[in-house]
Amino acid sequence: MAYPAHVDRPRTIIEPFRIHAVEPIRITTREERAAALKEVGWNLFSIHADDVLIDLLTDSGTGAMSRDQWAAIQHGDESYAGSPSWYAFLESVQVLWPFPHVIPTHQGRAAEKILFSVIGGPGKVIPNNTHFDTTRANVEFSGAEAVDLVIAEGHDPAALHPFKGNVDLAALEALLEERAADIPVVFVTITNNSGGGQPVSLENLRAVRAVCDRFEKPLFLDACRFAENAWFIKSREPGQADRSIPDIVREIASLADGMTMSAKKDGLANIGGWLAMRDDRLAEQCRNLLILTEGFPTYGGLAGRDLEAIAQGLREVVDEDYLRYRIRSTAYLGEALDAAGVPLVKPFGGHAVYLDARTLLPHVPALEYPGQALAVALYLEGGIRGCEIGTVMFGRHPDGSETPAAMDLVRLAIPRRTYTQSHIDYVIEVVTAVAARAADLRGYRIVDEPPALRHFTARFEPLS
Ligand code: F0G
Repeated sequence: MAYPAHVDRPRTIIEPFRIHAVEPIRITTREERAAALKEVGWNLFSIHADDVLIDLLTDSGTGAMSRDQWAAIQHGDESYAGSPSWYAFLESVQVLWPFPHVIPTHQGRAAEKILFSVIGGPGKVIPNNTHFDTTRANVEFSGAEAVDLVIAEGHDPAALHPFKGNVDLAALEALLEERAADIPVVFVTITNNSGGGQPVSLENLRAVRAVCDRFEKPLFLDACRFAENAWFIKSREPGQADRSIPDIVREIASLADGMTMSAKKDGLANIGGWLAMRDDRLAEQCRNLLILTEGFPTYGGLAGRDLEAIAQGLREVVDEDYLRYRIRSTAYLGEALDAAGVPLVKPFGGHAVYLDARTLLPHVPALEYPGQALAVALYLEGGIRGCEIGTVMFGRHPDGSETPAAMDLVRLAIPRRTYTQSHIDYVIEVVTAVAARAADLRGYRIVDEPPALRHFTARFEPLS
């Protein structure tokens, strides 16, 4: 949509929607928050969400659906097999991702679990720019090894690179030279969530494709935030400015052999996902597992109404007014914190701003979890819930050893179409206040942890 002439080049990028239904936010006191933290062993995943003022834990499944998605839900057809809602979903997916096999799952990790159960296993190696935590856990649970091969800039929070999610092509080639026989698939995550929500360029994807061709390996995408990645391509990559978002997405699809997807992100839905691919035989094996754990192939792990919500969400997420607002509103938070001197991953990601806790808290060693210390402080100060992405999440290895993660970050993920600019102004105020007294923050120790994905349930104790 073009803006009217008098606002042809507006300085303020407004939310391209009005609010239609509201959810209350319960205001808590610092004392209430301190008590809540103690109760849950300082693990923010265990806090009652009613005790959170601004919930930036994740952008996954937490967005607001549109009027048209709620309307589409009324069309949900709950037939066990061949539901019209399945066909609506399939058509919407294939307009953007024309893979012949689309396998609906209840969320992204279910797609990962099925795929890696078939192609993973002991002795196998799966390269990715950076595996997300559930992806890594599913690869490792199958017995395979997950290897991260993002470009060097992707490890440097301050390095300015327009496509910091790019794959290190030389490293990928070297790994393939050495272990081609053990590599069933090459993965690329768009955008690279664990690396700071950073995009991957079309040029890099084309080059990864060429490497895969040389070694005759399939290329799969973890495409959770594909529309945000496509917007970055359109706005940052030379020669892409005049293309439509669906056109860019279809080119990305043409470079890949398959994908895993969480519709809780760029599906603009509260639940859902899929696994898609070209290979008939692989699809058959995956569908056999789908039936065991998710459901019949025309609904997977989803109700018909969920399929409808996703079908409509996929039409909305590629809208340029939406994407312009989405990427701009994330940058608004980043720019304000940057101006206040808070160390951040730059450039700002599409779905989140990542605070560089290791730099902000140089006095807290990585194995005392600076990201955890900062995330807890933000909650205590202002009821803001962010997410540690660092040594708590990635530090423990399958052999039981513990090492510092590449970075210690706190992610402030922005739910889609959910918070207004004044909410974000409040976040800026709280983060700035906590950063000003960062020297007073202390680290944590873990008193109890499960064998895998420990960040979800570990209990902590503050160090004095
Ligand atoms: N891949 C990426 C890149 C993700 O960000 C996620 C989820 C998944 C796979 C798994 O999808 O949650 O539907 O099973 N990320 C969420 C987050 C949880 O907070 O970043 P899922």
